[in-house]
Amino acid sequence: MQGGGQGLLAGKIVLITGAASGIGAATARAAARDGALVALADRNLDGARALAQEIAQSGATAEALAVDVADRDSVAAMVAGVVDRFGRLDAALNNAGIGSNETGSTGLRTGELDYESWRLMIDVNLTGVWLCMKHELVAMTAGASIVNMASIAGLVGMPMASHYAAAKHGVIGLTKSAAIDYGRAGIRVNAICPGYVETPLIAHSSADKLEAIARKTPIGRLARPEEIADQAVWLMSDRSAYVTGAALAVDGGFTST
Ligand SMILES: NC(=O)c1ccc[n+]([C@@H]2O[C@H](COP(=O)([O-])OP(=O)(O)OC[C@H]3O[C@@H](n4cnc5c(N)ncnc54)[C@H](O)[C@@H]3O)[C@@H](O)[C@H]2O)c1
Repeated sequence: MQGGGQGLLAGKIVLITGAASGIGAATARAAARDGALVALADRNLDGARALAQEIAQSGATAEALAVDVADRDSVAAMVAGVVDRFGRLDAALNNAGIGSNETGSTGLRTGELDYESWRLMIDVNLTGVWLCMKHELVAMTAGASIVNMASIAGLVGMPMASHYAAAKHGVIGLTKSAAIDYGRAGIRVNAICPGYVETPLIAHSSADKLEAIARKTPIGRLARPEEIADQAVWLMSDRSAYVTGAALAVDGGFTST
């Protein structure tokens, strides 16, 4: 097992969900470069395997696992699998998530959403995070760190995406409450709230919409996944030892306007 001797996450066992794509994949690469041994979980096992192979070729240790974060047995098996393989769990990024496109509910106002779209969004984006935390917290000991992927939609309302915003606001409530529950146990829990990030999740958005978002963003552009990954690595590392219960906006100033 290779964990780099140097770096912010040197020798740490790090679990990342939604690791096959976008922000999760960028964080997996960054964590491995920073010395972590990474467990890459995704419902897209082929994608997670391909990334694990890429990371292994760079000399780090990476293992791919299949998971559906909305399925309680699958999540329990994922965490047990990490502990079986690596012996413990030091940090986790609960990042797997879906957008309106995947629930077939793009462009719908609150009252136009159907029950199935609402349910799927909450099951994956909110219950999925809680299920991961439930099992991770049992496997973790003092010094461990959990990072949950929220969104600016966890801080402010989102037009035509009230189910997504409700789930992400829920993730922040869950994060803050767990930070209180586990502070004395030495386990930190934080959330990251990215603005719009160039990943497949927003690929269905029109160029006009993305340009308008970039114009409204003080930094003047969307984020690259690597810019979110760097914050996730920092929050999982001991360099953020006094940070817990935070909902860190990484949004180019979007929610400051
Ligand atoms: N891209 C953005 O603009 C943006 C902004 C704010 C927050 N986020 C959040 O960041 C996270 C990652 O999104 P991304 O932009 O990298 O998207 P992405 O689509 O590139 O990656 C999401 C990954 O999650 C996996 N996944 C989805 N449902 C799953 C499930 N039930 N079980 C296991 N894996 C599952 C997918 O297979 C995929 O690999 C999500 O929680 C998303 O809500 C994204």
